[in-house]
Amino acid sequence: MLAGKRILLIIGGGIAAFKSLDLIRRLRERGATVVPVLTKAGQEFVTPLSASALAAEKVYTDLFNLTDEAEMGHIELSRDADLVVVAPATADLMAKMAGGHANDLASTILMATDKRVLIAPAMNVRMWDHAATQRNATTLQQDGVIIVGPNEGDMACGEYGPGRMAEPLEIVAAIEAALNDGPLKDKRIVVTSGPTHEPIDPVRYIANRSSGAQGSAIARALSALGAEVVFVTGPAEARPPDGVSVVPVQTAQEMHDAVHKNLPADAAVFAAAVADWRVENSAEQKIKKGPDGTPSLKFTENPDILASVAGLEVGRPRLVVGFAAETTNVTEHATAKRLRKGCDWIVANDVSPGTGIMGGSENAVTMITDQGADAWPRMTKDEVARKLAHQIAEALNDA
Ligand code: CTP
Repeated sequence: MLAGKRILLIIGGGIAAFKSLDLIRRLRERGATVVPVLTKAGQEFVTPLSASALAAEKVYTDLFNLTDEAEMGHIELSRDADLVVVAPATADLMAKMAGGHANDLASTILMATDKRVLIAPAMNVRMWDHAATQRNATTLQQDGVIIVGPNEGDMACGEYGPGRMAEPLEIVAAIEAALNDGPLKDKRIVVTSGPTHEPIDPVRYIANRSSGAQGSAIARALSALGAEVVFVTGPAEARPPDGVSVVPVQTAQEMHDAVHKNLPADAAVFAAAVADWRVENSAEQKIKKGPDGTPSLKFTENPDILASVAGLEVGRPRLVVGFAAETTNVTEHATAKRLRKGCDWIVANDVSPGTGIMGGSENAVTMITDQGADAWPRMTKDEVARKLAHQIAEALNDA
């Protein structure tokens, strides 16, 4: 529920703007107050009158409107909300946000706000796929902006692909997650997930079979308890959950840098299957077959991200949780690993062949803490994630 929450809804100029009128209704049904801001282009698609009638609030459109400035300045407007939502977020609005422009009311609010920002992009497929938009999306995620969608489907312009704005109820779910008052409210948690790709040359890489399913489930479960989640993910099959800040990376080194850049945090959970080695002599150009015979790859060790965070003297998260994939003597190996890496907990998996855990939907976990080992019954990865999230909430709220 969103009772008592105040949402500043910036409606950009796109055909999806009509769905934002429905979004206003859905948010109000759940008890939220919605204050609409229409960009100039947004007003070409929906009128201030319809937005204000549905919101039962004044609609803001101009940066230089003296009456508004006397009533409520744009700075105040940007701070007076619990969350700033941009729907639809056009390619142009995203570019302005990523570039830090402030030349109209919407962009000025987005620069001045001290609240979290959630955007629902909507644009033509090619505009979404364009390198500039993808670059801007990555920058915005790194700035902590939550991105919901876009979805794939038929578009108003007659093309098919990603670019449709997320449906109003999907946006509502992401808003509820972002404003959640659960036991992890006000807690920031970094989660790593997925495999890493270590390049051999520009077209080849070394990877592993991690699907990212367990990491995604953990990020979703933490977010559902109200945490602000920074999800640092390698190229995984599993879709990142809505409502978290996604930081996509390729290599272990990039994952290391992204994790440290996103500290401080209250907790960090290392569910990624990080490649232990990278190719030291990776080639700038594609390696060709030729008279020189088969290439030799020389490996060098990657930084241990978990150990580097667990060992921080300044700014160490209060709770550092690692994973261990073991095939024999699970408890013994994982207990040694906890001490070696300096983390607080190790979630140990038995991944021996025959368990069906690697790539499957279930997990058998032994939790290793300074209190010893606790073997959890076999359960789904979602259940493991929820149990872990609750234990993290208890630990962070203790003391
Ligand atoms: N990890 C990491 N950075 C690395 C390697 C591992 O952050 N370069 C983290 C993983 O995300 C996981 C834990 O460390 O939380 C696993 O440690 P690792 O030593 O890789 O253990 P295993 O994968 O279980 O492998 P091994 O038994 O070979 O040590």
